[in-house]
Amino acid sequence: MSQQSDTSKRTETISIRIDSGLLNAFDHKIEEKGVNNRSKAIKELITEFVADSASEQKYNSRVMRWGVIWTAFDHHKSNVPQQLIDLQHQFQSARLENIGSLHFHVDKRHCLEVTIVKGEEGFIHRLIDETRSLQGTKHSGGSLIVPPDL
Ligand code: NI
Repeated sequence: MSQQSDTSKRTETISIRIDSGLLNAFDHKIEEKGVNNRSKAIKELITEFVADSASEQKYNSRVMRWGVIWTAFDHHKSNVPQQLIDLQHQFQSARLENIGSLHFHVDKRHCLEVTIVKGEEGFIHRLIDETRSLQGTKHSGGSLIVPPDL
C-alpha cells in the first residue's frame, strides 16, 4: 500500500520580498478591515485567487453536458419571466441549446421555472450564474448532468 500525503492539511512558511510602501499600504488596509493578522489576510487573498482561477476554468470547459436550471421568484415583485426569456435567447447558440422551460405557479405569489439545456459545460455554468443574478429571483440553482452513452 502506498502512503499518500495530504498536502491540503500541511502548512508551509514562506517569505515574500515586497516593496515596503506597498506593504505599509496593505497593513493599513487590513487594519481598516479589522484583520490584525498579516498571514491571515494574505491567506485569504490567495484563497480568493485560487477560487477565481477555478471559476475561470469552470467557464471555459467545452465538454458536453445537459443542464437543469431552476429559479423561484415572487411574480408580484419582479419581471423574472421576461428577464429569463431575454437571457435564454441571448445564450441560445450552437454551443448551448435551450431545450425548453416549464413554469409552475406554485402558489398565489410564487413561481418556479425550470429550464433544460444542453451544450458546453462552461456555457451552462454561465447561464446558471446569470440566472442566479437576475433581479427578483429568490433562490436559483442548477445541476449538470453527464449525458448517458446511448
Ligand atoms: Ni407563475
